[in-house]
Amino acid sequence: MKKDIPLRSRQWFNDPSNPDMTALYLEKYLNYGLTIEELQGGKPIIGIAQTGSDLVPCNRGHVQLAERLKSGIRDAGGIPIEFPVHPIQETGRRPTAALDRNLQCLSLIEILHGYPIDAVVLTTGCDKTTPALLMGAASVNIPAIAFSVGPMLNGRYKGQCVGSGTIIWDARKRLAKGDISYNDFIAEVASSAPSAGHCNTMGTALTMNCLAEALGMMLPGCASIPSPYRERSQMAYQTGKRIVDMVWEDLTPQKILTRQAFENAIRVCSALGGSTNAPIHINAIAAHAGIGIKIQDWQTIGQHIPQLVNCQPVGQYLSEDFHNAGGLPAVIDQLLDASLLHASALTVTGRSIGENCQGAPLYNTDVIRKIGTPLKAQAGLMVLTGNLFDSAIMKVSAIDKEFQQRYLSDPARPNCFEVRAIVFNSPEEYHAQIDNPELAIDVNCILVMRYAGPKGYPGSAEVVNMQPPKALLDKGINSLPTMGDGRQSGTSGSPSILNASPEAADGGGLALLKTGDRIQIDLTKGTVNVLLDCDELAARRAQLDLNRQYPANQTWWQEIYRAKVSNLDEGAVFEEMLKYQNVRDNQPRH
Ligand code: FES
Ligand code: MG
Repeated sequence: MKKDIPLRSRQWFNDPSNPDMTALYLEKYLNYGLTIEELQGGKPIIGIAQTGSDLVPCNRGHVQLAERLKSGIRDAGGIPIEFPVHPIQETGRRPTAALDRNLQCLSLIEILHGYPIDAVVLTTGCDKTTPALLMGAASVNIPAIAFSVGPMLNGRYKGQCVGSGTIIWDARKRLAKGDISYNDFIAEVASSAPSAGHCNTMGTALTMNCLAEALGMMLPGCASIPSPYRERSQMAYQTGKRIVDMVWEDLTPQKILTRQAFENAIRVCSALGGSTNAPIHINAIAAHAGIGIKIQDWQTIGQHIPQLVNCQPVGQYLSEDFHNAGGLPAVIDQLLDASLLHASALTVTGRSIGENCQGAPLYNTDVIRKIGTPLKAQAGLMVLTGNLFDSAIMKVSAIDKEFQQRYLSDPARPNCFEVRAIVFNSPEEYHAQIDNPELAIDVNCILVMRYAGPKGYPGSAEVVNMQPPKALLDKGINSLPTMGDGRQSGTSGSPSILNASPEAADGGGLALLKTGDRIQIDLTKGTVNVLLDCDELAARRAQLDLNRQYPANQTWWQEIYRAKVSNLDEGAVFEEMLKYQNVRDNQPRH
């Protein structure tokens, strides 16, 4: 297997032209027990980018799993070196973990560039850790393999199946109506997190790990293994072994992350009923890999794909069921059978996705549907456009019977409805005003959240899926149409109009909207328009003070982030970062 690949780590540990520096580099790495023979013996140094810590409970399992990664790396002839990257915890980081995705990516790039590392294991899990590390690895382009911490076990509360995140959106309505106590609410939500691992619904974490596997960056079957299962640590061992061989094959991210791989990921996302955050992250990874994936591609490439996976929030089951039904390889096999994927796309195994997954077993056809009996015939995201934004997305697979009947079933204009806008400039304003009777909110209203995008919030927050006022909840109206330039949790099953780009804080059309404006939404044409003429819109634009709604920056990072970040349709990346491709080719000076 071992080929004549020049290891970049030799320039640190064994550079005959520079014995002074070699001695300096060696001495500190020797002082915790590594030997000269190990560091100069021609073995590749394999970094383990550690995302787990006490601050990041979702990925904390990686702290133990790293030992099995190291065993695999050792057995295959590599030297493991574990290092931390900037932490990201979805639920603990205020104002939002979205601020840290690009920071973790940045920290990974600097580490991989500046230290003696020949290849890297990316320890993925919680929502943004997966895209952050893949973005960084794509930019650096040393051999890289993703390894998920795995989802938590299924949650249970009083005999009922309880899924992470999704339970909050449901239980908070019962709390608002007074149906359950505060203590019951906390206990029910906490029961959704029964073990180590990331969220157990098909939220952003499981979606992104499945998509890492669909992109070809993770060993087949890795994404869905529950964190506490023995197969999870066995997969760690196999991943550790495999990354060493990838060094000798020079199997780099840019060879795997091709246009075909991203098209596969978009289609798999539809089949999963995946998170509405996926387009942001996949487009960001594509940008770092130098592949131009546009938001419109999500509709053209993914909308016609059927939903096969029956997991919450737009299905019934949880990740443990998904795994035991066959996990992602079973889904990919179904899509391959219908010729819906590029079977020849290369993966970290050195083989194609078709070779990896064709004929994968499917054990439960209710949890993972066969291609002929899907949950929804067309499950992909719809990309909307109009006079309020260039693009926004809607998860049409999340439209339930109630929504369908109330808004989309007018025989004269099917799939088209008109609503009155109720505009909020912040989630704080929403909470203060939602029950204000003067707003007279009824079923013919749309709740609009603006200044919640990357520049506005800052970071872009999951605040668009707003719940109706208590007066409507009491009448049994559990949801209203919502729209905004922020995001929605991947664990929410609401058919919101999300990720409007450009955002209000960047001069997007939502900034022009006033409470009381009429908005027409046409899901056949894919348009959202405020019913105002161009003159009125121009007059309002002339009045616009772009700085008005900003909360002040609280740290320097927020200032940098706001100044540099792109809109959600482009992945909320730093454009200037993208010019640094193949970072590994530019060896840092001594
Ligand atoms: Fe970390 Fe859901 S909060 S995976
Ligand atoms: Mg989230």
